[in-house]
Amino acid sequence: MNTSNVKKIILVLALATSYAAVAGEVSDSDKIAQYREMISDGNPADFDEMRGEELWKTASGPKNATLQQCDLGKGAGVVKGAYAELPRYFKDTQKVQDLESRLLTCMTTLQGIPEEEITARPFSSDTKQSDISSLATYVVGQSKNVKMNVLVKNPKEKEAYEIGKRMFSYRAGPYDFACSTCHATSHVRIRMQDLPNFFDKKDAQSAYTSWPAYRVSQGLTRSFQWRLNDCYRQQRFPEPKFASEATIALTMFLAVSANGADYAGPGLKR
Ligand code: HEC
Repeated sequence: MNTSNVKKIILVLALATSYAAVAGEVSDSDKIAQYREMISDGNPADFDEMRGEELWKTASGPKNATLQQCDLGKGAGVVKGAYAELPRYFKDTQKVQDLESRLLTCMTTLQGIPEEEITARPFSSDTKQSDISSLATYVVGQSKNVKMNVLVKNPKEKEAYEIGKRMFSYRAGPYDFACSTCHATSHVRIRMQDLPNFFDKKDAQSAYTSWPAYRVSQGLTRSFQWRLNDCYRQQRFPEPKFASEATIALTMFLAVSANGADYAGPGLKR
């Protein structure tokens, strides 16, 4: 995407917002649909994808290595289609890993970057995209239009799926909320935002396959770990540890719910 396209996007977003303000009755979901329609030839997440690709191919860290030998599940260096099969069990770590925890493994083992350094600020700040988030955007982009095919075969995969499924309906916290409190009913909203019903196949597929996503309201591309982190906040739960077993188990449950759909991200959100 070139600079004039970017200017076009910014203008279109500004116009769409002011148009909606005047029209009054245009809902947020209609506005988002308009944005998508108008900028369908380019999503600002494209820039993050490029940044991620550059990071992937650039030698760095104490070992001065690239990530080009990183095994995302389909063999060392295979990026194409890898995201559509994650999370999965990895023999070397003996763990079920989602994309971000696997990137963490590759960055620590191949490049020698200390884990604490990467996880100190895993989510982008208001102004700066984090490296791990850009890397994730690059990897997911290589699964665009690939059918989601997350397997639950290995005993550890089965365990992660079951834990994720139970967590989804587990009520706790000051308001006694579960994920399912907000995400198990169709056609409901909170403050104009449509809430996907993850027990509905179509809803689950379109929600999961649209993340990571560029958030228009924040001007940054957000990863799936970020999405979960933000929903822990919605749930009034304590902040989860980045790439923890709990967040990977939830991701496993949600990813399996999306099986059969073509991966459509990186997405574009309000
Ligand atoms: C109090 C209500 C509430 C709870 C509880 C909640 N969420 Fe959410 N969730 C939301 C809202 C609101 C959005 C839309 C946010 C936005 O657009 O900014 C959302 C969006 C999402 C999305 C992205 C959907 C899309 O189509 O983009 C996912 C995935 C998600 N939630 C998963 C979860 C999980 C997993 C849990 C439990 C850990 C959870 N949520 C708990 C309110 C909630």
